[in-house]
Amino acid sequence: MKNKNGLFITIEGVEGVGKSTNIETIKQFLADQGIDFIVTREPGGTIWSEQIRDLLLKVNDDEDLTGLSELLLIFAARAQHLDRLIRPSLAAGKWVICDRFTDATYAYQGAGRGLDRSKIAELETLVQEELRPDLTIILDLDPLTGLQRAQNRAALDRFEREQLEFFEKVRQAYLDIASAEQERCIVVDASQDLEAVSSELLIILEEKLSLLQQDD
Ligand code: TMP
Repeated sequence: MKNKNGLFITIEGVEGVGKSTNIETIKQFLADQGIDFIVTREPGGTIWSEQIRDLLLKVNDDEDLTGLSELLLIFAARAQHLDRLIRPSLAAGKWVICDRFTDATYAYQGAGRGLDRSKIAELETLVQEELRPDLTIILDLDPLTGLQRAQNRAALDRFEREQLEFFEKVRQAYLDIASAEQERCIVVDASQDLEAVSSELLIILEEKLSLLQQDD
């Protein structure tokens, strides 16, 4: 392929939307195609970034975290993740499959917490420079169903404790991003049964791969 860099694919959606299961489908597809890839997540993906993730998810009833502090921690984790894992992997020609990225910041900190978009955009430019995902798959589900699924899994983290209204804003933000950036984003209806979601994902990936091969 002309472009020696790997492809940067991000997966987004509200809690309980089935990202982990669908990432398994993507992994299987890439392995079958013989594509070299890594799977990672945000916040997280490196030792320091995972430590920041722990801070972000941990519930602390004695002191709330301000929206700005939350935003800065997320971008601190992202800066480390980009420098130590994402950029080197892409440069080595690997595909990077990332469970959430900066669209989550626009959705959760922007729409959910009500932080100014321009603050997020400034940090995005500072931390990422020109790097943006090549493809973003947004798994769309009504947040009530998603939260019920998440509640059945484990104790709720600091984000999962938010009210339904918060997740409705998050979902809408994702849909707005998808309609503003149709070249990059694809919305998949995650309320369908798992097989239907998987086969949609496989079609998306096959199309992406054949486009890359045409560029050879
Ligand atoms: P996860 O449960 O999908 O692993 O994500 C952890 C939480 O972090 C999830 O509730 C969404 C939140 N989050 C943000 O609020 N902003 C971000 O930029 C990212 C990447 C995640």
